[in-house]
Amino acid sequence: MSDPTRATATTAATCRICEGEVTEFLDLGRQPLSDAFPEPARTEGEFFYRLAVGVCADCSMVQLTEEVPREKMFHEDYPYHSSGSSVMREHFSATARGFIEKELTSADPFVVEIGCNDGIMLRTVSEAGVRHLGVEPSGGVAKVAAEAGIRVRNDFFEERTAAEIRAEDGPADVIYAANTLCHIPYMDSILRGIGTLLGPDGVFVFEDPYLGDIVEKTSFDQIYDEHFYFFTARSVAAMAARFGLELVDVRRLTVHGGEVRYTLALAGARTPSPAVAELVAEETERGLGALPTLKAFAANVENIRTELVALLGRLRAEGHSVAAYGATAKSATVTNFCGIGPELVGHVYDTTPAKQNRLSPGAHIPVVSAEEFSRDYPDYALLFAWNHAEEIMRKEREFQENGGKWIFYVPTVHVV
Ligand code: SAM
Ligand code: TMP
Ligand code: ZN
Repeated sequence: MSDPTRATATTAATCRICEGEVTEFLDLGRQPLSDAFPEPARTEGEFFYRLAVGVCADCSMVQLTEEVPREKMFHEDYPYHSSGSSVMREHFSATARGFIEKELTSADPFVVEIGCNDGIMLRTVSEAGVRHLGVEPSGGVAKVAAEAGIRVRNDFFEERTAAEIRAEDGPADVIYAANTLCHIPYMDSILRGIGTLLGPDGVFVFEDPYLGDIVEKTSFDQIYDEHFYFFTARSVAAMAARFGLELVDVRRLTVHGGEVRYTLALAGARTPSPAVAELVAEETERGLGALPTLKAFAANVENIRTELVALLGRLRAEGHSVAAYGATAKSATVTNFCGIGPELVGHVYDTTPAKQNRLSPGAHIPVVSAEEFSRDYPDYALLFAWNHAEEIMRKEREFQENGGKWIFYVPTVHVV
């Protein structure tokens, strides 16, 4: 068993991309599945693993050192429904419209989405009458997408699935994955599958939390079982090249606390945009994938833990009521790493029915409906869904008008 108080460790693992040596720089200790919310009477048998993250000396990919089996995370009862945020609904409909205008212009274009969830992006594609397929292993959310008229395959995307789709539907003009590629350790199978399924001038576009933002904001809660990789332009370019692909465009996004949208094409098929070299140069300048930078990040994580626990302890000692908002997968890392349980934070409010009347993973904080929030405001609300801060603070502005205060821990511990 590792010591969960140890921030800097030196265990070496093997890189899932290039088999180089991975040096661990942050140990977040024993953690539960981030999206498994036990019923109050059934907390025995929770699955735990060791959450630690390292960097490959050869290809610079930042990655977890331990892999949770995919069936434990993505199954019939996977509770995350993408369409719960209005900002994300708008983001994905704009994304779909962009594909339709710029990439899906041939006579009978075909788009595949890996991890389509409840159909938040493909809804717009389907409504435009464009040929499409969502590949989604989590049965519950796949059903929601199918009920909205989206063509869904309830399966994991991998080399096998890609070959079958190619045989049935022909080549894809666009393959898209949002907040999904970083979830998939078996990247060799995925990228070989992309090579099989992508048409000669097609693009593989994916967007995921950006290591540059995670380091800058010390958003260590982006690290949890489902987030296996933490991409940079440099690591993605190296990864693409190993599989006959090329990074041809990058664009920074503000959603989910800061992401990058990467565009890959078959090697030599498209001219890379200058944005690629610019972002790689910026990363080199910052020393983004370098061990000293990542160790400094680990030290900042330790400081946040100390400050957050001290703040919550002080508020409780002063008799204030403290709750949390947003039972995010990210918050499993925060509560379990910091040791924040129901004695510090009474409840977590969340709009997701599948999470309500359950307990938060590992820390066992009761999750209740977000509608309860306004019925009896706490004095302080710890915003676990800080990546949706604008939307939530707008929706819940009466909380602050009534004297309530939001607690943030990203990029620093502060109260507003
Ligand atoms: N694209 C949506 C979004 O951005 O909101 C959903 C993101 S959700 C965090 C990750 C999704 O990836 C889950 O719905 C999960 O079931 C799916 N997933 C995991 N492994 C997958 C795989 N190998 N192929 C396709 N989907 C996968
Ligand atoms: P995410 O940060 O992974 O997108 O998860 C957001 C969580 O916060 C999810 O469980 C839904 C919840 N949520 C609310 O309770 N209210 C809201 O207004 C939003 C946007 C999300
Ligand atoms: Zn590597």
